[in-house]
Amino acid sequence: MLIADLVGPAGQVIGIDPSAKAIDTARLRCVQLGRSNVEFLVDRVDTYDASATFDAAVCRYVLIHQVDPSEFLRATRRLVRPGGVIALHEMDITRGIQSYPRVPRLHEIYDAVTDTLLRAGGAFDVGGRLVRVFADAGLPPPKLFSQTLVEGGEDTALLPWMMELAREVCPQVFADGTEAEIQAQIDTMADLMQSAACEMNSQIEFVPQTCAWTRV
Ligand SMILES: C[S@@+](CC[C@H](N)C(=O)[O-])C[C@H]1O[C@@H](n2cnc3c(N)ncnc32)[C@H](O)[C@@H]1O
Repeated sequence: MLIADLVGPAGQVIGIDPSAKAIDTARLRCVQLGRSNVEFLVDRVDTYDASATFDAAVCRYVLIHQVDPSEFLRATRRLVRPGGVIALHEMDITRGIQSYPRVPRLHEIYDAVTDTLLRAGGAFDVGGRLVRVFADAGLPPPKLFSQTLVEGGEDTALLPWMMELAREVCPQVFADGTEAEIQAQIDTMADLMQSAACEMNSQIEFVPQTCAWTRV
């Protein structure tokens, strides 16, 4: 959607993801937001058979899922015209989340989620080694910057997002019983964590979000 706004109505964007569920959600959002210059395909970027090249390939949190991120970038380069751009938004989950004052439950949840993700493979630390990954892919050195989401108070995006991730990645670490009982226990945990953070007036800082881009 962000890219669709950048290229304007005369441009064209193709969103690619092998997950049919993700593509269904994206299509629905696109209709709801009235964008007509985006189409979506259930496919993989690295094996996508394009009939023409693109001005840019843009990926957010896709390298973290690759066994070999450099190989993925090498394959993605083939989709971009000479002088075009490869741009990424990634993170390194090993940098850790911070809270001041410390909210112990938040760190327990973050550690369980990150341990599970790191054990599953992929490249969940890739946001911290993008320069090397670009070099290994034979790409020109990228320009980079990072931003960190910092929040506090009742209206946070990070805490609900952490709980959704916990629900998806390792619910059995936090709860047991039937599916409904597990969900109810996780709901309670989410409420307790949110109110503890709020009562302590804790400042919560997520891992840096690192963007890197280069021209090919
Ligand atoms: C954390 S989600 C990010 C989704 C979306 N890019 C965003 O930023 O909201 C990671 C997504 O990468 C997708 N993915 C993994 N390997 C891929 C590949 N080779 N080509 C395209 N998408 C891929 C997964 O299916 C998943 O939907």
